[in-house]
Amino acid sequence: MQIIRQLDPLRTALDAIRKNGATIGLVPTMGALHAGHMELVKAAMAQCDKVVVSIFVNPTQFGAGEDLDSYPRQEAADAALLEEAGVELVWAPTVDQVYPDGFATNVSVSGVSSGLCGGSRPGHFDGVATVVAKLFNQVRPDAAFFGEKDFQQLAVIRRMARDLDFTHDIIGVPTVRDADGLALSSRNAYLTSEQRQQAVALPDVMRGAAEEIASGGDISAVLDEAKAKLLASGFHKVDYFELKHADTLEDMTVFARPARLLAAAHIGTTRLIDNIAVA
Ligand code: PAF
Repeated sequence: MQIIRQLDPLRTALDAIRKNGATIGLVPTMGALHAGHMELVKAAMAQCDKVVVSIFVNPTQFGAGEDLDSYPRQEAADAALLEEAGVELVWAPTVDQVYPDGFATNVSVSGVSSGLCGGSRPGHFDGVATVVAKLFNQVRPDAAFFGEKDFQQLAVIRRMARDLDFTHDIIGVPTVRDADGLALSSRNAYLTSEQRQQAVALPDVMRGAAEEIASGGDISAVLDEAKAKLLASGFHKVDYFELKHADTLEDMTVFARPARLLAAAHIGTTRLIDNIAVA
């Protein structure tokens, strides 16, 4: 497995793969890989001949006061996991390979970026859309794989790809959860053992709310009650707990399928997000 940090050798390596007629699957990550990422790798391997994983902690998607400096970085462990999984190439660019001197371009996707994480993390999705557009141009994959865990991010990337004429497939991969239901996230590493136990309230409360809404419960009452339950279970702040149309992410005040519940809440210094279908 090659680990490449500069664009020229990346292009040479990708040209060699393409010359043999192989298809390329891209799995963009910020490292600190866990079983959720490895599920993306598995999906990419099932669909493409060769898999490229990018590891880049993208500074432009972190706001002031967020965890850019403390974000877990463990490239050697990540590389070992990827090598064992049979990944062909790791694209781990230096910051100047992504944001060269004088970089002045911003990809901003309106509509699906508003509200939810876009509301509580201003500028976050501009940073995501910009870096993902760059990764798409750098790797030129046949398909790119993203977790449904970041459901709004997936919607933003799908919209951006349609709008900017990226023709490769964008594949959403279902969230991987621990046995107790907590969605896997690199940020779970920040939780103390007590917080980790309390954090399971997030998927539990979401599941309960989804069942109540699907069986005709009053949406706004169910959402209010869910927020109160999280606050009573160890979370100290709920950024949002909302019901949205699953494709457009527009507000849903009358239940109709496809619908998605999405939530973000803080426990200790950690902000966790999750989402589930309301079936
Ligand atoms: O989901 C992530 O890890 C990041 O937001 C992504 C898509 C790799 C862009 O930096």
